[in-house]
Amino acid sequence: MIDEKQLNQPKRSVLRRLHMLFLPLLAISFFLIYLSDITQPLFRARKEDENPLEIYLKALETNEAHKWSKVYTSQPHLAGTNYGLVEFTKSKFEEYGFEASVDDYDVYLSYPIDHSLELYEHSEDKKDKLLYKASLEEDVLSEDPTTSGDDLIPTFLGYGANGNVSAEYIYANYGTKEDFEDLVARGVPIKGKIAVIRYGQIFRGLKVKFAQEYGAIGAVIYSDPGDDYGITPENGYKPYPHGKARNPSSVQRGSAQFLSVYPGDPTTPGVGSKKGVERVDPHATTPSIPVLPLSFKDALPILKKLNKEGLSVPDSWKGGLEGVDYSTGPAKNIHLNLYSEQNFTITPIYNVYGEIKGENADEVIIVGNHRDAWIKGGASDPNSGSAALIELSRGLHALTKTGWKPHRTIVLASWDAEEYGLIGSTEFGEQFEKFLQKKVVAYLNVDVAVAGTHLHLGASPSLFKLLKDNAKEITFKNSTETLYDNYVKDHGNDIISTLGSGSDYTVFLDHLGIPSLDIGFIAGKGDPVYHYHSNYDSYHWISTSGDPGFEYHNVLAKYLGSLVLNLSEREVLYLKLHDYATELLKYLLEAYAQMPEEWDNEVIGFRFSSCHRAKASHHGKDPHHEGRRHHGKGFHSKEGPHHGERHHGKGFHAEGGPHHERGPHHEKGLHVEGEPHHQKGPHFEKGFHHDMEMYHKKLAHHGKEPKTKLKHLKKQVESLIIDFANTTQTYDAYTDFLQKQHEIRDSLSFWEKIKLHFKIKAANFKLKYFERVFLHENGLKNREWFKHIVYAAGRNTGYAGQRLPGLVEAIEDKNLHDAVKWLHILSKKVDSLQKSLE
Ligand SMILES: *[C@@H]1O[C@H](CO)[C@@H](O)[C@H](O)[C@H]1NC(C)=O
Ligand SMILES: *[C@@H]1O[C@H](CO)[C@@H](O)[C@H](O)[C@H]1NC(C)=O
Ligand SMILES: *[C@@H]1O[C@H](CO)[C@@H](O)[C@H](O)[C@H]1NC(C)=O
Ligand SMILES: *[C@@H]1O[C@H](CO)[C@@H](O)[C@H](O)[C@H]1NC(C)=O
Ligand SMILES: *[C@@H]1O[C@H](CO)[C@@H](O)[C@H](O)[C@H]1NC(C)=O
Repeated sequence: MIDEKQLNQPKRSVLRRLHMLFLPLLAISFFLIYLSDITQPLFRARKEDENPLEIYLKALETNEAHKWSKVYTSQPHLAGTNYGLVEFTKSKFEEYGFEASVDDYDVYLSYPIDHSLELYEHSEDKKDKLLYKASLEEDVLSEDPTTSGDDLIPTFLGYGANGNVSAEYIYANYGTKEDFEDLVARGVPIKGKIAVIRYGQIFRGLKVKFAQEYGAIGAVIYSDPGDDYGITPENGYKPYPHGKARNPSSVQRGSAQFLSVYPGDPTTPGVGSKKGVERVDPHATTPSIPVLPLSFKDALPILKKLNKEGLSVPDSWKGGLEGVDYSTGPAKNIHLNLYSEQNFTITPIYNVYGEIKGENADEVIIVGNHRDAWIKGGASDPNSGSAALIELSRGLHALTKTGWKPHRTIVLASWDAEEYGLIGSTEFGEQFEKFLQKKVVAYLNVDVAVAGTHLHLGASPSLFKLLKDNAKEITFKNSTETLYDNYVKDHGNDIISTLGSGSDYTVFLDHLGIPSLDIGFIAGKGDPVYHYHSNYDSYHWISTSGDPGFEYHNVLAKYLGSLVLNLSEREVLYLKLHDYATELLKYLLEAYAQMPEEWDNEVIGFRFSSCHRAKASHHGKDPHHEGRRHHGKGFHSKEGPHHGERHHGKGFHAEGGPHHERGPHHEKGLHVEGEPHHQKGPHFEKGFHHDMEMYHKKLAHHGKEPKTKLKHLKKQVESLIIDFANTTQTYDAYTDFLQKQHEIRDSLSFWEKIKLHFKIKAANFKLKYFERVFLHENGLKNREWFKHIVYAAGRNTGYAGQRLPGLVEAIEDKNLHDAVKWLHILSKKVDSLQKSLE
């Protein structure tokens, strides 16, 4: 029927009709453009002879790693210095077809000025007698040009405090928390003393942290030959440069940062250190006592003076120095004078980026290696990785120069200042947090690509399958053995380690929830001693001893490329979730095994009732508002205590998907254009009330009252994760199916193709954001920067990965309340993932 009014208003009606025509037309044309754009891969003709991996591997049949190794290791490149290598890296990326750029951060670093270490005998009547003055230098070797020159970097520990202290000293073994606790328990004085500590077991910065916390006023850390796995002169090995054993004068430099509190610029936790940024006192993560690293040659006379002084020690405390009985000391009338001076300064550092835009710029793969080294050389750490990164870019160039475009965007990153505390990558991760969380599918790290012959793999479990399957595609050196065979032969299984900290994946995994992996050949059985952070980590060493012929460099670059190409080219992301669930179950049971048995019957019902109250108060029914204080930490990502201005408005983890976020404003480093789309994320977390409702439903389902015991909760979480393992297994099969469908897409009808397209899009979306869900907005207790609830740097180890850190630390601290809290957080996360995958 025609509306009379309309008839009476012809003018408006024309306009209206125009609108009515125009809008649908506009919509249809957008839809068509969109369709042709997104379905391009669906209809793209497949050329069977065009296998990107084959082209890549063929390009790497000529091995140029030695060239890049030579360039990087021929000049000092301490963090924030050597702009020449910044330009070299950028020009290589450009030469190999990447869009390249340099970005800088202003960060807090310390550069060596002066130092000394002297051993004295006290004398009442005359001047103290100087017994020994440590050389604090590594020997110049005529065979190895990197060990001489006026451009050598002194031996020092980054961020060690300035000071000149004189005191008696004690031997503190590895300087772990337990070692210091043992000393205290046995009555060895630590307060006011200097601690002599051997390298090993934990990150060196934490040795300093514990020494300082137990009252030491200075520390020296030395490399003990007892930790060289038997590659010693007693066993017939000659020291470098004549054999595999450690050179007695070798010194391990390094950072004394307290890595497990937070990495990155110590003055800007959580934010990118751009010019003008607000800074905090650095001492939460840097020492307040002076420290020095030492060779065993220099440590020998010092330790000998402790023989039979203080207490004798168990065998586990004994190193391999001849003539030393490793008594704890102190020795009466014997003292050390330790002097260290560094230039603490805010100075620019430079990250270099190279990018190849993919067809799908919303999915990005980042491959990173750091460039800075503690020494002039750094052939292994980090420049074997730098050589692999350049080889990767060269291999990919073989593809791009034929006009090939990756399906997903590939970004290479050459980080600066990793050595001081993962600074270049962390500042980048903090500055571009939202952008990275929105777009990055995986982060691939290569730091030490080659220090020995033993492949080491560490990764998020969703990447286990990718790592294993691709290792099967790479043949090992020139034999027919695959890299996978070699790995299994070496390890006895194909278990992949979990990531702790100690390299640039830390911000991506632990802070941003991005699936990450780390690969490299490390030194192990049969290999020469690797002179870590020493002048002897040189081109001469790597080319004559570490990796003659650079064959391991080549294998690693091939492997890295295969991982990148698989992640970029496979239509359905190669992230597998079942491995994640089974790992999770393993960690949970490990944590349960550490729980005191008497906790089992503790009634933990108070948690639930207080949750009820919180809910009631929300509706204005409860005047006490009691829940808030407790819940702030565990449950309410939104209502929890804020961490001050700098943390505001950050992170989308609480919401799951990226809702209507704006991208970073000036992507200087990455050439990213435009605003992110207004995609809707899966509702991984529907909020506290929803979670509690679900929780009570579950309880009701199990026929339990909200008032429950810990053992019931434990059982529930366990069965939740067992169910989750089932769900993820089904989901992995589903994504395999989607991929297979894609591979036979030519046989599908038009509408089937469209349907498949949207199914794949949805699956990729869930896969991409899966790991983000394990972030907990408020972070771990006392170290909120670490937001991942499954993985973190061990709080007392630094390097070693801590699984389920919140829960396990609560157990270690005998804190039942927190343990319950973390079980809740875990079950909440798993529950929401479970729902999104069902
Ligand atoms: C360090 O202190 C000692 C006395 O304890 C002094 O003899 C020495 O000159 C000082 N060194 C420096 C560089 O200040
Ligand atoms: C400390 O380093 C800065 C550069 O960051 C430099 O300008 C300054 O001269 C240095 N000071 C000393 C005492 O070496
Ligand atoms: C691989 O081949 C090169 C020469 O082509 C040879 O020098 C090297 O020893 C071989 N490596 C192995 C493990 O066979
Ligand atoms: C990814 O790896 C799997 C397993 O090795 C393999 O079947 C597949 O062809 C690879 N895909 C690409 C695009 O590299
Ligand atoms: C997974 O769940 C389905 C449906 O609940 C069930 O039939 C199957 O047996 C379960 N599989 C495993 C391995 O638990």
